[in-house]
Amino acid sequence: MASRPIAYLDSGLGGFPYFDASRRALPHLAHVYYADTASFPYGERAPAELSAIVTSAVDRLIADFDPMMVVVACNTASVVALDALRATFALPFVGVVPAIKPAAERYGTGPIGLIATTRTVEDPYVSALIRRYAPESRVVMVAAGGLVDRIERNGADISASELNDVLRGPIATLATERVRCVVLGCTHFIHVRNHVQSMLGDGVALVDSVEGVTRQIVRVAGADNSQPSPSPSPPQSVLVLSSRAEIPAAYERIARSRGLLVHRAEEGAP
Ligand code: DGL
Repeated sequence: MASRPIAYLDSGLGGFPYFDASRRALPHLAHVYYADTASFPYGERAPAELSAIVTSAVDRLIADFDPMMVVVACNTASVVALDALRATFALPFVGVVPAIKPAAERYGTGPIGLIATTRTVEDPYVSALIRRYAPESRVVMVAAGGLVDRIERNGADISASELNDVLRGPIATLATERVRCVVLGCTHFIHVRNHVQSMLGDGVALVDSVEGVTRQIVRVAGADNSQPSPSPSPPQSVLVLSSRAEIPAAYERIARSRGLLVHRAEEGAP
């Protein structure tokens, strides 16, 4: 790989909206997406265990790809492990955390809804985010781990009735609390954004962090002086899967539609 790539890490396919947006913004750079499918789901793990899992995934990415930065494209991994990653490794990290700050800036004191994994809604990092950026707002948090599972199995190809079944409970809670906006605090959920919006209705805004995180990735890439001059043809980007199992159909589709080279973590760098 000629240039040092930007690496993205998630437990599965949740981080692709971030990967896609920054590939569009930085087409002259190579991008490596690491789906830690062997450790999926992150959202049901204890903090210490998850921190160790994420640290070893980053170790692997550094050994195999020497990335210029790592985007932790997963709210669960970011709230649990971002501080430890920054203290452990010398390269820059861009985290993805629930967009409480933009939601409070745009929709005032709320109430604000947050839909995320169990780990994220329970994590002290998120309570601190709320105290800091939305101290006046009531934030209603709901966990939707079942939705993460469905999306990981199918990508965005889930039937409307399956989505309705799994989202009915969380959406009813948010509706009862009369939230004005809902933060999508799990990257997997962005794949079914339109469906969530249709269940919430037009009166409730959906907020995610794709735009803000992409701006930050572009800023960090711009500050990196170690890059060779841009190559005339776009560099090859790579999808790495940590599981040894057969490549799931959803990943085959993702790789094909984006022209990505598929690798297994144990194979090392392409
Ligand atoms: N995509 C991850 C997030 O943003 C969570 C998925 C999982 O539980 O593994 O939180």
